[in-house]
Amino acid sequence: THEFYLTRHGQSEYNKLGKIGGDAPLTDDGRMYARRLAEFAKKVICRNAHGDAVPARLWTSGLRRTKETAAFIEHPTLEVCLPPPLGKLQWVQMRAREWRHLDEIYAGICDGMTYDEIQQLYPEEFELRHADKLGYRYPRGESYLDVCHRLEPVILEMERCRQPLLIIAHQGILRLIYAYFCGIERAKAPHVSIPLNTVIQLQPCTYSCVETRELLHT
Ligand code: F6P
Repeated sequence: THEFYLTRHGQSEYNKLGKIGGDAPLTDDGRMYARRLAEFAKKVICRNAHGDAVPARLWTSGLRRTKETAAFIEHPTLEVCLPPPLGKLQWVQMRAREWRHLDEIYAGICDGMTYDEIQQLYPEEFELRHADKLGYRYPRGESYLDVCHRLEPVILEMERCRQPLLIIAHQGILRLIYAYFCGIERAKAPHVSIPLNTVIQLQPCTYSCVETRELLHT
């Protein structure tokens, strides 16, 4: 298996307001991150140890904020001619794919609310989630366990992938993918820290992964 690069989308209008879910666009900050990520993809993800251009893959969710974060990355099946500094023509390929499976955990009746609003409007639901974050299912929405099931085909494809892979997704989704590859027990997965503006590089090895985190400065 090749290395994986996991990142959340850039800051969205909902992130700024502390609202969960939805399908909001990126903020100016978020778009800045998208530009930095495109540079990182070109310089790091699409290069091997000798500095040669290599084909890579790019997966996003079906939501606007991940697609906008991918917008500056040269793709899809498109072959891109890279100018110097390498002095010779280099072709990179970043094959893009959109997976609805990678959409953020759906919060049902709580979609679009802040955590404070949920606590005020649905105090019992708030408590139930606090007591069992993995198993708790939002009314008319999903639980982390539900999301584990819908991620199964994604994980299978990841295990088969023979090229560097960049996944632009969401906090909840990346927690589960990260926990799976790093051997973190499921009950702890919903609490893993996956900050914004950070690319997590995972190099799978026998039972776990070698991890590097790159903060792309804002
Ligand atoms: O706040 C961003 C977000 O991606 C929400 O859309 C989502 O509901 C939440 O994170 C998941 O995190 P948690 O499970 O901690 O509420």
